[in-house]
Amino acid sequence: MSRIFNEAAKAKIMSAEDAAALINNGDNIGFSGFTGAGYPKAVPLALATRIKAAHARGDEFRIGVFTGASTAPELDGALAETDGISFRAPYQSDPIMRNKINSGVSDYADIHLSHSAILMRQGFLGHLDVAVIEVTAIKEDGNAIPSSSVGNNNVYLEKAEKIILEVNSWQSLELEGMHDIYYGTRLPPDRVPIPITKADDRIGSTALEIDWNRVVGIVECAASDRNTPFKPLDEDSRAIAGHFIDFLGGEVAAGRMPKNLLPLQSGVGNIANAVLAGLLDSPFENLYSFTEVIQDGMVDLIDAGKIIAASATAFSLSPEAAEKMNNEAARYRSSIILRPQEISNHPENIRRLGVVACNGLIEADIYGNVNSTHIMGSKMQNGIGGSGDFTRNAYISCFVTPSTAKGGDISCFVPMVSHHDHSEHDVQVLITERGLADLRGLSPKQRACKIIDKCVHPDYQAALTDYFARARKTANGQHTPHDLREALSWHVKFLETGTMKQ
Ligand code: COA
Repeated sequence: MSRIFNEAAKAKIMSAEDAAALINNGDNIGFSGFTGAGYPKAVPLALATRIKAAHARGDEFRIGVFTGASTAPELDGALAETDGISFRAPYQSDPIMRNKINSGVSDYADIHLSHSAILMRQGFLGHLDVAVIEVTAIKEDGNAIPSSSVGNNNVYLEKAEKIILEVNSWQSLELEGMHDIYYGTRLPPDRVPIPITKADDRIGSTALEIDWNRVVGIVECAASDRNTPFKPLDEDSRAIAGHFIDFLGGEVAAGRMPKNLLPLQSGVGNIANAVLAGLLDSPFENLYSFTEVIQDGMVDLIDAGKIIAASATAFSLSPEAAEKMNNEAARYRSSIILRPQEISNHPENIRRLGVVACNGLIEADIYGNVNSTHIMGSKMQNGIGGSGDFTRNAYISCFVTPSTAKGGDISCFVPMVSHHDHSEHDVQVLITERGLADLRGLSPKQRACKIIDKCVHPDYQAALTDYFARARKTANGQHTPHDLREALSWHVKFLETGTMKQ
């Protein structure tokens, strides 16, 4: 059965190839899609074929690619492979896309996810030529039911000169009613308060508004979202979850949080998902989540009756969990809200609700500065995503990580981070399988002692203690002691020998 319930819209149906032919060299394209959910599946593949054919003829064909966040092989992977992406923003995690960024083929602007809509509206990301947006259905009134993510779709639909809609019948029609599309955001001086006072407040409409004067094509498809499965829980991730849950218990006991906690945010990645799984066996009940993505662990908490409602901008589910969501979307509609990312990640909401943030990291230093994005200072991994939006504005900002990487050859705690995403002023709690360092209210030197004691792997504790002692001498008692000649020597050692072990 066709999902296009508006008669006039039917005249705009075309093949993915014909839609791709409407996209030109040099265009900036706003695609739907957020962490492997709700990205268009047919047009990007047809566009990749068109770009390859142009390159084979010796013609220039490069495009700017904007999304909500990461997508999947059919979008980032297929387009990046052509060497046809000149510019990419605001977040990606595709291996091919990552290589093109790190080999200099594509420029990448790693933007806070809550800033991307603002920069687009201000014009800093250039003119938006085309929006290619996946939707679940086109309603009789011409508006569209969003699919498994909202991301920046409202902004791209507002700004693009031409609109192509991909109507994906794999997405469940029962998603209708799950979304909350708020059209009240403005640039200053016309901003007004966003009227969210509880994580599950609904303040917008359930459909995306479509300006049919700009719709140039509709493509029908039936293809699944392509999320990757999470790694099975191991001893370390269970230990990390255990420390986090004990910490939350302590906050309740100290009277700093109600019994049902404060709205939880959980970042991307395996450890963040493991923390959610840990909450399943915790004593906490009647929880709320105000987060960016709904992962498997969150769905399990809803199923178990632990979470009353979760607000996010997208699903980030394993294939099995996505299939289940598709079959049972009607059941989840009362407990899940999908919003534009400018609302899910808005500092105003995060601060007002008192969100407890929990994100992954690549490395932290002994003073609590965090690198979430770069390997060995230069190589982009994924991007900052929403971690900055949540960390800076949370009621409590936590980071979780195994204490080592690469089989123990890398310590995730180093004298000085090789790239800086979150500063010592924003990072409050660091958690590894070894333990938890609560850094709130501590000076840099106090933080260093606590981090080395609680979080660092025993293989690296002595060396970091030595560094800290030498740095204190070299810096002559100064506030944040470093020996700058030595500060990044751990990274240099790894690059030269394949291990940080001293
Ligand atoms: N030095 C070098 N490499 C490191 C490292 C370190 N200190 N720590 C991890 N790595 C490597 C891992 O070995 C792995 O490499 P591989 O892909 O070659 O196997 C890679 O980095 C990813 O590590 P992994 O432990 O699998 O990560 P994860 O799934 O737990 O994700 C982040 C961790 C930091 C990459 C992820 O949380 C992220 O992208 N964060 C930024 C965005 C964000 O926080 N979004 C949420 C906001 S709502």
